[in-house]
Amino acid sequence: MITKCLFPVAGYGTRFLPATKALPKEMLPVLTKPLIQYGVEEAFQAGMNSIAFVTGRTKRAIEDHFDISYEMEHKISGTNKENQLESIRELIDQCTFSYTRQTHMRGLGDAILTGETLIGAQPFGVILADDLCVGESEGVMAQMVKVYAKYRCSVVAVEEVPEQDVSKYGIVSGQAIDDRHVMIRDMVEKPDPEDAPSNLAIIGRYILTPEIFGILRHTPPGKGGEVQITDALQTLARKGRVIAYRFPGKRFDCGSVEGFVEATNYFFQQRNEPGAK
Ligand code: G1P
Repeated sequence: MITKCLFPVAGYGTRFLPATKALPKEMLPVLTKPLIQYGVEEAFQAGMNSIAFVTGRTKRAIEDHFDISYEMEHKISGTNKENQLESIRELIDQCTFSYTRQTHMRGLGDAILTGETLIGAQPFGVILADDLCVGESEGVMAQMVKVYAKYRCSVVAVEEVPEQDVSKYGIVSGQAIDDRHVMIRDMVEKPDPEDAPSNLAIIGRYILTPEIFGILRHTPPGKGGEVQITDALQTLARKGRVIAYRFPGKRFDCGSVEGFVEATNYFFQQRNEPGAK
C-alpha cells in the first residue's frame, strides 16, 4: 500500500565528532551493521521497497553501502564470511535507492520537502535513522502502516519521556482514542518544560500524506530558525488529520552517545542469547 520511505540523512552528527568528521553518522555501526541499514530493513519489512535518501555533502558512503562491492564480494566468495553480507544483499536485490541533495541545512521540514521530487503524490514513510526502534512482534513502521490503513491520515510514532527531556522533542497532545492512539490537536517543537502540552514525544517515525508538501512550502522557519515538520503537521492536526501512535517496542536515541551504547549493549545481548543467529 505504501511503497516509498524517505530517509533524511543530510545532518552533521556533531555529537559524534571526531568519528563523524569524514564518516556519515548514519554509517556508525551498532555491532556490525550501520544505523542506516537498521532503518532501511525496518522500511522493507513494512513493505516499502522504494528507498529515498535526502542526502548531503560527506554522505557518499551511504550510496556505496547500498550498492554491490564487486572486489570485496569476489574476495570473500566461498569463505565463511559470505553470510555476513546476506542482509545487505537482500536489500540491494529487493529495493531501489534514489538520492537527492539538501544543499542548505534548513531543518527537517525542509529536508522532507526536498524529498518531494523522489516521493511524488503518494503517502510515504519517514525514518530518522538516529532513532533505532525495535518493535514487539513486528517493526514499528510495519505497525504504523496498519494504523494508516485504518485512519487514512498522517501518523507519528510517540512515547512518553521524562518531563525534563521534553525540550529535545516534538511534543503532542490531543484526544485519546484508546491506549495506543491519540487524535492530535496540538503539537509543538522542543517546548520548554513549562510550556509543554504533555510529555508525549515524537519519535523519528512518520507516515505522511502528500498534502504535507504544499503545507511545508508555506511553513516559515520555527524553532532554531529551521523549517520544522512538527509545525507543518500542526496545520493538519488542527483538522484532526494526525494520529499519534504509542508503539509497543523499544527505541534507542542513537543520536546521543548514551543511547548508542545502550543500543549496542541491547543488540549484543540479543546476539548472545541461546537460539540467536
Ligand atoms: C527531530 C524532530 C522532533 C522529533 C525528533 C525525534 O528532532 O524535529 O520533533 O521529536 O526528531 O528524534 P531532532 O532530533 O532531529 O533535533
